[in-house]
Amino acid sequence: MKIAILFDGGWDTWEQRDVASVVDSVKEVQVALRACGHEASLVPVRAPADFGWLSKIRRVDAVFNLCEGIGGISRFEDFVVGALELTGIPYTGCRPWPVALTHRKSAANTLLARAGTPIPRFLLANGNKLPIDLTLPVIVKPAAEDASVGIDAGSVCTTKRALRKRLAEMTEQYDEVLVQEYVAGREFNVGFIGDTVLPLAELCFDNMPEGSWPILTYAAKWDTGSPEDLGSVPICPAEISAELQKRIVAVARQAWEELCGAEGYGRVDLRVDATGQPFVLEVNPNPDISDCAGLSRMAKVQGWEYHDLIGRIVDEALSRSTSRQAANALVEGALPVT
Ligand SMILES: Nc1ncnc2c1ncn2[C@@H]1O[C@H](COP(=O)(O)OP(=O)(O)O)[C@@H](O)[C@H]1O
Ligand SMILES: [Mg+2]
Repeated sequence: MKIAILFDGGWDTWEQRDVASVVDSVKEVQVALRACGHEASLVPVRAPADFGWLSKIRRVDAVFNLCEGIGGISRFEDFVVGALELTGIPYTGCRPWPVALTHRKSAANTLLARAGTPIPRFLLANGNKLPIDLTLPVIVKPAAEDASVGIDAGSVCTTKRALRKRLAEMTEQYDEVLVQEYVAGREFNVGFIGDTVLPLAELCFDNMPEGSWPILTYAAKWDTGSPEDLGSVPICPAEISAELQKRIVAVARQAWEELCGAEGYGRVDLRVDATGQPFVLEVNPNPDISDCAGLSRMAKVQGWEYHDLIGRIVDEALSRSTSRQAANALVEGALPVT
């Protein structure tokens, strides 16, 4: 099968190491697709108004979508998936709606809460006004960012005074800021490919530096070798009772179905409070699937090599497209002939 790998080609202004990190993970997927017996070509998306990539993908059987934005601007990611949807060519990963929705944490959380999925209580910050309906401690985070951007040791506030100060700093930097009740407890990740659930991972914060909150900060995620990185260790498979695992998966699946329709691949992040109740922190459609990232770690525990994971992501895209064609044919067959 001919597959085009679509990715953010970046701007001329990008630093060499930023380009290299995108290209490395793209090439990793290319090697894996070839190991599955596919032909895999690289198709960069270079600028919002450059549609050269659309004509290139017309010649392939499927698109492996690794495009997380255009020139690093993440809101363009939504538009690229929207364009893919219009082409009718099978593509990997989530559909446009969940990708766009989860870029706005308050909208995603509102839908989850309305569907009865347990999430920590939250509010969108209104200037520096204190959210009096929430119980301290709370965590303050940017509402339209991901990858732990804007999350550091000062994100969790235990007093009104600290919260007022943090809100002032955050609302100056970010257009939308979310305040959410802090869930003290263990943190888990649940990975999905379509409706298949992968082995659970736990983030262990036992070795966080003295005085730090046990949360995944920006430094923990991106500053390799920093005390916060060394202090937050993913453990897969998670060492938990079958009972707790069942409860976590049930809540994660509910969120995955509600926001992503159980299509594509994704990761649901949760915390479990002292009573054993899981709460969804967020749903991540199209998370990092490089070989060193969480989803690949889970797949290995399942007994899949990296290329098996990549192959299954392609299979899921193809089966989704086949069922859509079947549904279209059914509808067309039911239409009166004019
Ligand atoms: N309500 C919460 N209670 C406890 N910890 C939280 C809460 N929200 C976020 N965190 C911590 O902050 C990290 C990043 O938050 P998250 O909402 O997942 O944002 P991002 O999109 O940046 O990953 C989480 O992995 C978790 O450690
Ligand atoms: Mg997260």
